[in-house]
Amino acid sequence: MDKILVTGGLGFIGSHTVVELQEAGYEVVIIDDLSNSSEKVLDGITAITGKTPIFEKIDLKEKSLVETFFKKHNDIKGVIHFAASKAVGESVQEPLLYYENNISTLVYLLKELKKLPEASFIFSSSCTVYGQADELPITENAPVKQAESPYGNTKQIGEEIIRDTCKVVPSLKAIALRYFNPVGAHASTEIGELPIGVPQNLVPFITQTAIGIREQLSVFGDDYPTPDGTCIRDYIHVVDLAKAHVVALERLLKNKNKDNYETFNLGTGKGSSVLEVVEAFERVSGKKLNYKIVGRREGDIISAYADTNKANNELGWKTELTLDDAMLSAWKWEQKVRSK
Ligand SMILES: NC(=O)c1ccc[n+]([C@@H]2O[C@H](COP(=O)([O-])OP(=O)(O)OC[C@H]3O[C@@H](n4cnc5c(N)ncnc54)[C@H](O)[C@@H]3O)[C@@H](O)[C@H]2O)c1
Repeated sequence: MDKILVTGGLGFIGSHTVVELQEAGYEVVIIDDLSNSSEKVLDGITAITGKTPIFEKIDLKEKSLVETFFKKHNDIKGVIHFAASKAVGESVQEPLLYYENNISTLVYLLKELKKLPEASFIFSSSCTVYGQADELPITENAPVKQAESPYGNTKQIGEEIIRDTCKVVPSLKAIALRYFNPVGAHASTEIGELPIGVPQNLVPFITQTAIGIREQLSVFGDDYPTPDGTCIRDYIHVVDLAKAHVVALERLLKNKNKDNYETFNLGTGKGSSVLEVVEAFERVSGKKLNYKIVGRREGDIISAYADTNKANNELGWKTELTLDDAMLSAWKWEQKVRSK
C-alpha cells in the first residue's frame, strides 16, 4: 500500500486522520516536532488500529532535516500537511512566529515534492479565509476576504503558494481543504483534542468547565443578529473530517481530480449557535454548564457555515456524525484524560 507522510500527525486532526489512513490500508509516516502534542498519542493510535505508524521527530522549519527525510523515505506517494501553529490570538502577538512556522514549512515540503516524479498534497486550510461571507451558506467560490489575523493570513498565503506552484509543476496535484469548526474525539476515547493551557476553542472550554478545571464559560455576546443572539458556526465531527482526508487523497492518487489544484469546504452545512452547542452538551452529558453572557469579543464574525454541495457531489464525501455525537465523544474524552 502507498506510503503517506502526515505532518503534524500527533496533533488533534492529524491523529484522527492517521487512524483513518491506517484503517484504509495505507502505510503512514508521521513527522511532528511535539510543539503542540505528545508522543503518547502514538499509543492511542496503536490501541485503535493495532499498527504503530513510523514516527520521525522533526521540526519542519529545519530545511536540511526535511531534505534528509525525503532522501530516506524516497517512496512517499502523498503528503497530508497538518503541521502549523494555530492559536489566532497568539498569532496577533507573534506574527513572525506564525509566518515562519506556517509558511516556511510549507515551502520546504513543496520543494521536496517538486523533485518527485508524481506527488499528491493535501493542505489544512480553514474557513477563516472567507471572513464574514456576504452569503450563507458559504460556497468555495465566495471571495477570500482580508484576513483578520496573521494565522488566517498564513492559510490564505499557503493556498496561494500551492496554487502558484501547481501551475508550473504538473507532477504535483494538490487539494486545499477548508475546515469549518472541528470538534469531538474518537469514539474509542483513545485519542482526542489536548489543548495546552487555556483552550482557544469553545468545545474544550465547555468540557473543561464541566469537569471543574475552568470556573465558567464566557459566551461572547448575545446581541448578534442571529435567532438567539449568539454567534453561529459549523461544527464538524473530527472523525468525519479525518475521513474526508482519505477521500481527498484517493481522488489525487487515482487521478480523479479535475484540476491539479482544487479547494473543498469541509463542514456539515448546518450552523449551530454557541447556546445550541451548550444545550447539546447538557443534553448528552446530563450536566448543567456554568456559563455567563459577556460582551462581544473583538474579531468574531457573526455566522459561518458551509455549502457542502461541492464536497458531497464532486469529492463524494459527506458527514455521518451529529453535533450530539461530537459533544458526547468530547465529554467522554475529557473524563478519560482527567481520570489518568
Ligand atoms: N482545529 C481547528 O479548529 C482548525 C480549523 C481549521 C484549520 N486547522 C488547521 O488544521 C491543522 C491541524 O490542526 P490541529 O487542530 O490538529 O492542530 P494541532 O496543534 O493539534 O496539530 C498540529 C501538529 O503539528 C505539530 N507541529 C507544529 N509545527 C510543527 C513543525 N514546525 N514541525 C513539525 N511539527 C509541527 C504540532 O506539534 C501538532 O502536533 C493546522 O494546520 C490548523 O491550522 C485547524
